[in-house]
Order: sequence, then structure tokens, then C-alpha cells
Amino acid sequence: MHDFKFKKNALFCEDVRIEKLVERFGTPLYVYSYHTLIDHFLKLKKAFEPIKPLICYSVKANSNLAILKSLVNKGSGLDIVSGGELFRALKAGCPSGRIVYASVGKTAKEIEEAIRLGILFFNVESLPELNSIQHIAKRLKKRVNVALRINPDVEPKTHKYITTGKLTNKFGIDLFSAKKIILYARGFSHVNVSGLHIHIGSQITTSEAFVAAIKKITVFIAQLKKESVKLDYLNIGGGLGIVYDKETPQTAQRFADIVLPLLKSTGLKIIMEPGRFIVGNAGILVTKVLYVKNTPKKKFIIVDAGMNDLIRPSLYGAYHNILALDKRVGLEKADVVGPICESGDFFAKDRMLPQVGEGEYLAIMSAGAYGFSMSSNYNSRRRAEEVLVSKGRVSVIRRRESYQDLVRNEVIP
Ligand code: LLP
Repeated sequence: MHDFKFKKNALFCEDVRIEKLVERFGTPLYVYSYHTLIDHFLKLKKAFEPIKPLICYSVKANSNLAILKSLVNKGSGLDIVSGGELFRALKAGCPSGRIVYASVGKTAKEIEEAIRLGILFFNVESLPELNSIQHIAKRLKKRVNVALRINPDVEPKTHKYITTGKLTNKFGIDLFSAKKIILYARGFSHVNVSGLHIHIGSQITTSEAFVAAIKKITVFIAQLKKESVKLDYLNIGGGLGIVYDKETPQTAQRFADIVLPLLKSTGLKIIMEPGRFIVGNAGILVTKVLYVKNTPKKKFIIVDAGMNDLIRPSLYGAYHNILALDKRVGLEKADVVGPICESGDFFAKDRMLPQVGEGEYLAIMSAGAYGFSMSSNYNSRRRAEEVLVSKGRVSVIRRRESYQDLVRNEVIP
């Protein structure tokens, strides 16, 4: 599942001891395993080999250029949601024909940039957005491909903040309206609705909701065929869950076995947008214990990483396994909390945790996706350093920010 393993009781990333990394680079430190990253990409690629989909890694999960470049080099495309992510995609050398662009709120400037660069297509989320793309494309004298994002109204059984395919969510277009829009858009001079897109949520661990959504979309495609609507692409989004705790998510192969017959029946070129599945278990956040504080009610392990470094526990109540760097350390009940001035600044609550003391380290596991990419400078904390390990080789892929970085764009009038 990943390349963070104990060897003779010491935690390693591939061939490198984590302790060596923290001694060299300090903490908080994000450590990524190149081989885990690529292995997950290839697992998906292999499972879906019969239909050769374009896998567009979802940049938002972890947008570090080195991560993007590693995947692009293996043939991955990229799923982006902003001008900033487009900038990163190009910096990472992604061919524009392998970029798909989602988001409910693309600005005119962002749309124009993406059209000029000739991305594969936009995933369009509303009629006003479609009109806007037609208008801009006409001005630029370019014909643009789009996929309509359909909201299939299915329940993915995940956290409500990362559920996106219910009609109460802001994403996509309901099937009834989508049909009307597609027929109406036939009259557009510069926009070609050449595909459909679904993305029903994230960290989905069972296949039912995916299957339900894909079934709905295949029925819809058949209906459109009757109206002589010709499509080229079906984008099935991302959302595949990973193991954080005791989940037993579908493997790539199991997922493929279930959905391949449905996808094949469409005859369309399939696009996928996985983020977490590829990078989630390829990264950890290593943090140093600053103090251990006992109160009448609890034991707090106070560490030097905070919710600004990894917000998932605070925001979603997400579980991340927490390990000591030495396997032999015993366990006792405690909270792991950061230094930030918020009670929501925690990584674990009332959990059996390694009995670590001041100056020792903890590894917060499965932090590769939506870890660094959601980090901030709250409390004027410099964002963490990131390193990528490949076998015995260690590369810094983002330097720790400096105090100067914190105020770089500020002006005292
Ligand atoms: N495609 C679209 C249109 C998306 O909105 C997303 C994620 C993905 C693909 C990739 O989904 P994945 O395969 O990674 O599940 N911050 C949250 C997750 C937010 C997901 C947002 N959209 C978390 O930490 O759990």
C-alpha cells in the first residue's frame, strides 16, 4: 500500500530513515515516497488498461511541481480548477491536450487563458458559464470543447463537506436541465459539447455510488444518442477512497472490474480525475513533540505542526494514523495538538498514542493528499518543508518558508 515501513523498529520512507530526514531538514516536514506515488498511478492505469483512459491527476490534492512532474512524466494528464493550477500544470510540462478544467467559478480571464493554451476541455458547471465560454471563444476565434458536469443526485456516503453529487450541492447540472442545455448548445458557433463529466465526492470507499452515477449517465448518453447528439468523452471524475484507519476501500482492480463493462458500453473515451488515490498514502507529515502537558482531564502531546499544516482533522474530523519513529514505543491515551490558538487545532483526540516525550517525533500518516495543498500561514506560521524520497535519494521539493516570505507582498502605506 505504501513505502513507509518499519525496518528494525525504525520508520523508513523507502530506503531512508525518517529520523535522518528530520535531523537534516527540521520539522514540520512533509515526506513523500516517489515509488508509492507512481505505484498508485500505475495500479489505476493497469486496472483500466482495456479502455486506456486518460488519467488526469487532480492537482488540488497535492500541487507541488515535483509531484506533478513525476506523474506527467509517466503519461498522466492533469485536472485543474484555477488559473494558478493551470500555471502549475504548464510549469510541470503537462501538454495542454492532457489538461481538463473544472470549477463552478471560472473567471473570464481564467477561461481565456485556458482557451488560448488549447486545453483538452472545460468541465462546465452551469448555463451562464457555458454562455461565457461561447462568448470568449468567439472573441478569440477558437472552437472549444466542453464536457457538461452532470449532478447525478447520488449519495456517496462520505463527509458532507466532500459530497458533490447531490442536488443540494453547488456542483454540476441536473439531468433534466443538462439535456435542454445540450440541445440548446447545438446552436453555439464556438462551443462544442463533446463530453459529460461526473464527480460525486471524495474518499468514497464503496463502489455503489460510483456505479449508480455511471449507470445514470449511460442511460442519459443513450437518450442523447436518440437525439443525434454525438459525444466523444466521458469523464468519471475522482473520489476513490484510501485507507486512513480501518476502511476497506475498493482496490483499483476491483473498481475497474465493476465499472469497465458500463464504461465500455458508452463507446466514449474515458477520462478519470483521481487525486487522493494517487498521492494520499504517498506522503506523511513529521512533527516534533514540544511539550507533554497533563491536565486533570487529559494528556496533551503538543507538537510543532498545526492545523495550518494539515487541516483535515480540524475541518472534517478526519482520522490520520499517528506513529512514533521507533516501533517499540508503548501506547497511552492522549490528544495530539498543535501550537495554534484554536481548540480545533488537533491531530488526534482521546486516542491510544505513542508515549513520546519532548524532542521526540511523530509521523502523521496518509497526509499526501489535501495536506500541504490546504496549508496556510495562519498564526504567521511558515509553511513546512517538503521532501521527495526515491529509494535512497532525497530531494527538497519545497523549501521551508522564511519570515521574509510571510510579508513579501505586504505594504505599509
Ligand atoms: N475532480 C473534481 C472535479 C474534484 O472536485 C475533485 C476533488 C477531484 C477530481 C479529486 O478527488 P479525489 O480523487 O482526490 O477524491 N479536501 C478534502 C477533499 C476535497 C476534494 C475536492 N474535490 C479532503 O481533504 O478530504
